[in-house]
This record gives sequence, structure tokens and C-alpha cells, in this order.
Amino acid sequence: MLKEALSYDDILLLPGYSDVLPRDCDVATLLCGDLMLNVPVISSAMDTVTEDTLAIAIALEGGAGVIHRNLSPEEQARQAAAVKRFLNWVIASPVTVGEDASIADVKIVMERFNISGMPVLDQGDRLTGIITNRDLRFCRDDTLNVTEVMTKNPVVVQGEPTVSEAREKFDKHRIEKLPVVDTEGHLKGLITVKDMEKHDLFPNAATDKGGRLIVGAAVSPHDYKLRMPLLQKAMVDFVVLDTAHGDTASVMDAVAGIKKKFSIPVIGGNVASREGTRRLIDAGADAVKIGVGPGSICTTRIVAGIGVPQFTAVLECAEEAAKDHIPVIADGGIRFSGDITKAIAAGAGAVMIGNLFAGLKEAPGKEILFDGRIFKEYRGMGSMGAINDGAGDRYQIGKDEKPVPEGIEGRVPYKGELKNYLYQLVAGLRKGMGYCGCRNIDELKRYRNFVRITTAGWRESHVHDVTITQEAPNYGRS
Ligand code: XMP
Repeated sequence: MLKEALSYDDILLLPGYSDVLPRDCDVATLLCGDLMLNVPVISSAMDTVTEDTLAIAIALEGGAGVIHRNLSPEEQARQAAAVKRFLNWVIASPVTVGEDASIADVKIVMERFNISGMPVLDQGDRLTGIITNRDLRFCRDDTLNVTEVMTKNPVVVQGEPTVSEAREKFDKHRIEKLPVVDTEGHLKGLITVKDMEKHDLFPNAATDKGGRLIVGAAVSPHDYKLRMPLLQKAMVDFVVLDTAHGDTASVMDAVAGIKKKFSIPVIGGNVASREGTRRLIDAGADAVKIGVGPGSICTTRIVAGIGVPQFTAVLECAEEAAKDHIPVIADGGIRFSGDITKAIAAGAGAVMIGNLFAGLKEAPGKEILFDGRIFKEYRGMGSMGAINDGAGDRYQIGKDEKPVPEGIEGRVPYKGELKNYLYQLVAGLRKGMGYCGCRNIDELKRYRNFVRITTAGWRESHVHDVTITQEAPNYGRS
């Protein structure tokens, strides 16, 4: 008997009784390991989608980016480190002065580095005071020693402070700089009120325990040994085993290999079957990425005749993964915000998006002016162009083999800034949750009230019998 499989367009969610408003729905989700995102969206590891600029923008809004691997290991790690540094709320190596410095020395250093104050250290690098513009304001004698003018025994914070801990100290003591020290008083970092304010501008940012933005990076079974040490140094939060066929011996070995040597959570993939999901979980994957052929630029199903329509793939793989409480990520085929609601209702903890993000200002693809409209380049990682730039091993193409593409190169309309666009996507998800009466992502994952629709139903769902005169920000054309 032939098994039937459905895609997002084949189904809808049944509306249910609700006492929750969309704006009150909690869209935070567990991505993998113990890593939480504030919105259940990550961006594809593709060279026209995710580099550091987009990874910063999406993490500031609560999601996360996965930096692609058509970059040298060094450049990929450098970009990941740039994301981690962006909020930079604890300055790891602040400018300091020794206790023997004069006020004249202090003024020179402050002017050179354009800073408004700095910690004062004794010869053993222990913090003894802090000197700021406030202390200098009434000091007329530049020959004085810094210890005569500085604020002694300043307010400090120990260990690895959380953002709220630091905020409490700033508010309580009305200070502008907060040194971080270890138990012996050695200076370990500095937090400034300015950097705290930067944090306050992005209250929904997805951050690690130290307040740094969350970022992921793609690795492959062939290059992970090279990339992992650099990515670990860059403090990457998770890695994605980025392959078109994740149910292979080499991917299982790579998952196990990474888990054995590194403490970074691993997302394994891609698979589209219960069995593949089980094997990745047994190999040690912290999350499993689902999707063989649903992507907008993918030709795998046509070239190789392989794949599973994405709704069924997510539903079945998520069922298998739920037995071990392992999250799954629905990768590819998201065309509208409603597809995110459907993917999560099918059991995904998060979705991965390429196409819808490739047209954003922050995406790395080139801008193209065509027919009086602005577009941006978007290409599959299995396209000729991407293979020629190094992505062949994702599709098991050896370096000296003739490329057989599984993707195309194209363009998508320019969409402006990520912040506004992601807002629309997440607002659509919230609306869906409101219609189903689901307060949070876990409730939506358990909702499972679907109807299958016909082509007539699908046609009825879309705009019909009208010419659109004003484009809506959440119902685009390509
Ligand atoms: P969307 O639908 O958002 O999907 O464009 C993005 C996802 O598609 C996968 N991907 C590919 N799949 N050939 C494929 O079969 C390709 O060339 C290709 N490039 C990317 C990938 O999983 C991505 O996240």
C-alpha cells in the first residue's frame, strides 16, 4: 500500500475555543540542549541568507542565525565571534591603570581610548578602585597620584553576572561602571551603563547566560574536525550538521564525534523519516532537522525522485523525537506565516527559513534591479554557483567530480529590514495560536487538530476573484 504524505498546503488547523489573545501567547521555544529562543525561527545556513549581519539582526529579535559554511573555517568563526561580541555587555579586557599612575597619565589614557573611566589595579592585578570623569571633575592638580582621587572600594559584581543582577546593581548604587571580579578581587571584566542600555533596546533578544547573542554555525562530516575548535573558541551556541541526506553513516559518525569531544549542542540532519530521526537521536543529536526537498530552491525531489512532503515529514519525525523529548526543526518550504503555525502544530519546536529571509536588507545576497523592482540573489546550496564556491560535499559531490546540482539560482523581492518582516511572521503565528486557544509553543505542539483540504479548499484559502492593488506586508508575491 502506498503511503500518503501531505504538505503544508494540504492541511489547515481547526479553530478551537480560545481565551487567549495573540499578543499574550508565549512564543519562546527550546531549540536544542538547554538553549531557548524567544521566537521559534532560525535562518538557513546558506550563502545568500546567513552571515554575521543577518545573524545579529535575527538574534536581536529573539531567533537565531546559522552561519553558512561556504566560508573558510577562520572566516566562519570570525563572523560567529562578531555576533557574540555585538551586545558586548561585559568588556572582557577593559582599559585599566596601575596604582602608580598620576592624574595626568589617567587623562591621557582616557582621551586616547575615548572612555569616561577605568578600573585601577594593584601590582597583583587586583581591583583597588575606579577612576571616572566624576572623580576628575573637581581635581585641579594633575600631579596627584590616582589613588588619591579614585573612588575606593567600588561596587563590584562577582563571577558571571546575569543581566538582571547587573541591572540591579546599577539601579541601586546609581553607578555608571561595574567591575567584574573573581573571589580574590582580580579584575575579570567591566560592565558600563551604556552597554546595559544597548541591551535594554532589545528586550526580546535571544541571549546566552552571559547576555551575548545566540548564534549557530554549519559544519559537515568532512570539515567538522577543522571547524569545531575554532567555533568553540568563538563561543558558538550550537552547530548544525548541514547535509542534504542526514541518514548516513558519515553523519551519524560526525554527530557522535562532535558529542564526544565538544560540549556544544548538535542539530543533526536533514532527515524525513522516523527511522532517520531515531538513528540521529541514538547517535547523540540534541535536535533533529527535518526536510528533504521542501525548500523553494530545491530540485532534489525532481532530480533524484526523493523526498517527503514537509507536513507529514515533520509530523512523523516529531512523533519519534518526542519519545526522547528531543526537539525537531522544520527546515524549508515555509512560504507564509501560517506555515510556521502548521509546522509547530505538526510538532516542530522551531522552523528554519531561507527564501523569506534572502530578500532582507541584512542578507548577504547581491541586490538586483529588474523590471523597475529591487530583488536580491537567492540560490540553493546545491546549485551550480554554490557548488563551485565549495558547497558540493553537502550533496556528496567530491572535489574532482562533475557537479550535478540539486538546487537552482534565482532572485527574490527585496523585503527591507528583518525586524519588521520577522514581526509579521511571528504575529501570524501568534494569531494562529489565538485561533487555537494555545498559550505557548508546547500547547500548540499538542493541539493536533488538522483538517485535510482539497485543491478547491486551497484555492478558496488564497486571495481570489480580486486584483490586489496594495501589497500586504505578510502576503507577498515572488
Ligand atoms: P526555503 O523554502 O526557505 O528552504 O527556501 C531553505 C532550505 O532548503 C534547503 N536547501 C536546499 N535543498 N537543494 C536542496 O535540495 C539546495 O540547493 C538547497 N539549498 C538549501 C536547506 O535545508 C535550507 O534551509
